[in-house]
Amino acid sequence: MSLIAGNWKMYKGPLETAEFCRVLREVDLGDADVVVCPPYVSLAAAVQALAGTEIGVFAQNCHWERDGAFTGEVSAAMLAELGVYGTIVGHSERRQHFGDTDETVARRAAAALEEGLHVIACVGETESEREAGDTEAVLRRQVSVLEHDDNLVIAYEPVWAIGTGKNATPGMAQEAHETIKSLLDVPVLYGGSVKPGNAAELCAQHAIDGALVGGASLDIDSFAAICRAAH
Ligand code: PGA
Repeated sequence: MSLIAGNWKMYKGPLETAEFCRVLREVDLGDADVVVCPPYVSLAAAVQALAGTEIGVFAQNCHWERDGAFTGEVSAAMLAELGVYGTIVGHSERRQHFGDTDETVARRAAAALEEGLHVIACVGETESEREAGDTEAVLRRQVSVLEHDDNLVIAYEPVWAIGTGKNATPGMAQEAHETIKSLLDVPVLYGGSVKPGNAAELCAQHAIDGALVGGASLDIDSFAAICRAAH
């Protein structure tokens, strides 16, 4: 399996999303399974523009309750109603800036899976954790709260590699992926500065089942090149 997911973060409103998805329908994406993860307000535009294609639309987060007094949150049921196929949970930016913990990430993942959504749950160590030799312990802690599900995928995203242009070497990623797979038998994507120039080598590692791509997914040519590079 090779899954390439484009995490758009807080980029592309509905108009830009619709235009991007119209082009995405037409370009050669190779054999990879492809998903895009626009901001909440652009999900409907993406679902509409990609209707009838194999390209899935994922949200970037979801709340664990179906509804309630949770200002600013969106539930898995609401995403499902919109025709969204899945959601990312536990991205390091959510953990760093918005207070997500292993426990809340687990609750978000469980609620989304319960709702029938697919889930990409993100894990990964910071630079200081790696330097302290704690990478394996961090991954064990982050993965231990997740339960196996056929619709669950994990993304290994070393925090020091996100948006820095400094990707993990294929060997480092392979080792982390093997640790994760020994804990939970699910597909594992690599994320962190994936670009057209390094995607093929990373995705060729046998424990790497695809990529979660941030910055390089915002441009149609580089995103399509990454999709084609993944086998
Ligand atoms: P990046 O982001 O590809 O820009 O490093 C990856 C991510 O945050 O998912």
